[in-house]
Amino acid sequence: MKFVIKGGQPLEGQIEVLGSKNAALKILAACLLTNETCFISNVPNISDINVMVNIIKDLGGKVEVDGHRITLKAELTHNHPSDRLVNLLRASVVVVGPLLARFGEVEIAQPGGCLIGARPIDTHLDAFRQLGVEIRQKNGRFVFQVNKLKGGPVILKEMSVTATENVMMLATLAEGESEIRVAAAEPEIEDLANFLNKMGAKITGAGTHIIKIKGVRKLKGTEYKVMPDRIEGGTLIVAAVATKSQVKVKNVIPQHLDSLLHKLKEINANIIIKPNSVEIKPYTYLNATYIDTRPYPGFPTDLQSPMAVLLTQAKGTSQIFETLFESRFNYVKELVKMGANISVLDPHTIVIHGPTPLCGKEIVTHDLRAGASLVIAALIAQGKSVIEDVELIDRGYEKLDQRFKNIGANIERVK
Ligand code: EPZ
Repeated sequence: MKFVIKGGQPLEGQIEVLGSKNAALKILAACLLTNETCFISNVPNISDINVMVNIIKDLGGKVEVDGHRITLKAELTHNHPSDRLVNLLRASVVVVGPLLARFGEVEIAQPGGCLIGARPIDTHLDAFRQLGVEIRQKNGRFVFQVNKLKGGPVILKEMSVTATENVMMLATLAEGESEIRVAAAEPEIEDLANFLNKMGAKITGAGTHIIKIKGVRKLKGTEYKVMPDRIEGGTLIVAAVATKSQVKVKNVIPQHLDSLLHKLKEINANIIIKPNSVEIKPYTYLNATYIDTRPYPGFPTDLQSPMAVLLTQAKGTSQIFETLFESRFNYVKELVKMGANISVLDPHTIVIHGPTPLCGKEIVTHDLRAGASLVIAALIAQGKSVIEDVELIDRGYEKLDQRFKNIGANIERVK
């Protein structure tokens, strides 16, 4: 599938941010902690969520999807997630914590997912071991086993988002108290903890680097509304700034985007921050800047590629230092084809000289965040762009083409 985009014109109107992919994926996994029914709303209708739904169905769970609402009852028939599905989604690793908590054993393939650098799961393994879980490899799969799950201190090797979530879910049903230290503090982790607490868990400190969990014997079914997607929100805001548009991005929690919004103000973007939305007006000029990506509340790695596109329009020399991932600059050569003046200094650093006009070209994407950024580039470019492999964009953004079209973009999806 491709997007054909005729760029060079501003957008106008209102666009709403949908539910968070990276919160919803973990909240669906957390439903595996009970055999009672859970009702989850504000779930984006995207292919990564479909994969998670299929993993749960394959385990025997009953799942009904109705637009953005999912009803899930995890009366499971087995505890070995399908290799094929696990290979499609790196985040599938978060089913390990809940399945281990419930069954004491899980066998799972090495999770797949986006091609953004070496992403081992050793932080997960190390954290599980600290709670007494035994891990061995069998036919290329990991086998996790624990006889009597007991809480205790867990010190993460690094502030990994999914490792924090995995061990937090496991600890909800452990006997006694656990404390996760060097925990990641991303808002999605807090959203997951809020859901778990509604299920009857006793978690405090999620959203900080020390999370305390008092184990309970059982969790119950409940209902929950997923938080708005801060990465989608940030991407839409940057798209509106870059295209010199007059757009209101609704359903944003501005505090979740402090680093981005502050940076946008610093470079002279014309944005007004309201309690639940951000209004964008055309800029007169943009200044170059320096960005380094950091764990939350630092500048999010998932927003560095949209920002790189924007900085091609800023006056002077900008630099982006990607501290979290290597191989996350694959999109640069596509931008260069379009006329950007960007050099990759090393796998973690790019330098952008601007402003440069962009012109439409045939381009390809290698990961979902880069894909959304190339859409922004195509929207500001003069002429026609064709973006290949937009299935990667559909993994994380629901009907991005249609929603941009609704605010005036000239974008078509073609097979
Ligand atoms: C989660 O991935 C997200 N995925 C990613 O979003 C996101 O980019 C990432 O966190 C960082 O915010 C999900 O939630 C499903 P990590 P995760 O273990 O948990 C390094 C998207 O497009 N690192 O936190 O797999 C670490 O070595 C995806 O939606 C540090 O260097 O990521 C690894 O290379 C992609 N220092 C990378 O960061 C640290 O303090 C991410 O690790 C912590 C991590």
